This record gives sequence, C-alpha cells and structure tokens, in this order.
Amino acid sequence: MNKAFFCKPMESKEFTARIISLSDMDVLQKVGKETFYDSFIDITPPDDMKAYLNSSFSSDVLQTELEDEQSKYYFLELGDVVVGYGKINFDKAPYGMMEIPHSMEIQRIYIKKEFQRMGAARKLMHVFFDEAKRRKCNSIWLSTGSFNNHALSFYKKYGFEKIGNHEFPVGGKIFEDVILLLKR
Ligand SMILES: CC(C)(COP(=O)(O)OP(=O)(O)OC[C@H]1O[C@@H](n2cnc3c(N)ncnc32)[C@H](O)[C@@H]1OP(=O)(O)O)[C@@H](O)C(=O)NCCC(=O)NCCS
Repeated sequence: MNKAFFCKPMESKEFTARIISLSDMDVLQKVGKETFYDSFIDITPPDDMKAYLNSSFSSDVLQTELEDEQSKYYFLELGDVVVGYGKINFDKAPYGMMEIPHSMEIQRIYIKKEFQRMGAARKLMHVFFDEAKRRKCNSIWLSTGSFNNHALSFYKKYGFEKIGNHEFPVGGKIFEDVILLLKR
C-alpha cells in the first residue's frame, strides 16, 4: 500500500475555532502556560514568570473564567491539534476608563510558536468579529505590551487605535501595556 496515502501532508491550513468548556480545562491550562512562557520568558525574570503562570492559570481561576457567562474561551485547532487559544469578554470597562457600552474585549490571543505566521490568529479574529456582530458590540478593545511589536502590527492591520495605557503586572515585574480600540 502507498505510504503517502496514510501520511497525507498538511498542505492547506484549515484552522477551526470552537468554544471550550470545563472539560477542556487541563488542555487550556497547558496551552495557556506554554504560550505565555514562550512569548515572554526572554523579558521576564523566571520567578515572576512562575508566579504569574501559577496564579493566572490555576485550576480555580480557569474554572471561574470558564463558568463566567460574560466571557468565552476558544481553542483554535488544526485537525485535532490545539494550536492556540483566545478569550473574549463582554461589557467590561477598559482599565481605569469609562465603560464603553456594547463593547467586547479581546483579552487573550495566543498561537503556539510553531504555528505562527500561518493565518491562525487571523482566523480567530474573524470568529471574534462575528461574535461581536452577533452581540451587537460596535466597539472592540484590548490591551497589549507596548514592547510587543508583533502583536501591535497584527492589531494595526484591523484598524485598532491607541486610546490609553495600562500597567500589567507579571509576578513582581510591571509591563507597560497600550489599550487599543476598534470602532465598527
Ligand atoms: C500576535 C500573534 C497572535 C499573531 O498570530 P499569527 O497566527 O502568527 O498571525 P497570523 O499568521 O494570523 O498573521 C496575520 C497578520 O498579522 C501580522 N503578523 C502576525 N505575526 C506577525 C509578526 N511576527 N510580525 C509582524 N506582523 C505579524 C501579519 O501582518 C500577518 O499578515 P500576513 O499574512 O501579511 O503575514 C502571535 O504572534 C502570538 O501568539 N504571539 C505571542 C502572544 C501574543 O503576543 N499575543 C498577543 C498579545 S495578548
């Protein structure tokens, strides 16, 4: 039998997104820790990284977030492989600012290193935009590191604009974030 018949190469990248639930918590914990670590270990002292991963991805925190009706977590998959994840929240005010009515926050979007630059995050953004439309959210906001040029150029492509700053603690280290807004 032809071996290639069984080992079909992944020539086309068909990413799919799905909303996850409590039963996905272990995988979420693993992919969440792995992608945050890989993204920021070069600029984060190891103890601060450890403290952040342990607090932000504890089972208690994830369970509360997964059960929150004002939030949704998504996995982005290629076949049955989880290549990244994202989280959106509804009607939450940008840090220290007035609430923006009918708004959606993109709190997290993380793609595993080996699957970056293949259109994975673009796929997730389209899913988020569809959800914003469905919920009649005409403002989408997020915050990301002012040093994070990859993310900043990614968001700029969609027309996000800076509306403020915010401090983001990772353990004892404080990062400067920018708050971006997209009006649709
Ligand atoms: C930012 C991030 C989510 C982009 O994910 P991705 O799957 O690689 O992005 P895509 O392949 O869908 O790229 C879409 C567009 O974004 C831009 N982009 C993506 N990665 C980029 C990079 N490293 N440098 C510059 N532009 C980039 C490109 O313009 C790209 O369009 P192209 O088709 O012209 O190349 C990914 O790099 C990541 O997970 N980074 C680490 C975590 C992080 O910083 N998350 C965001 C802050 S919370």
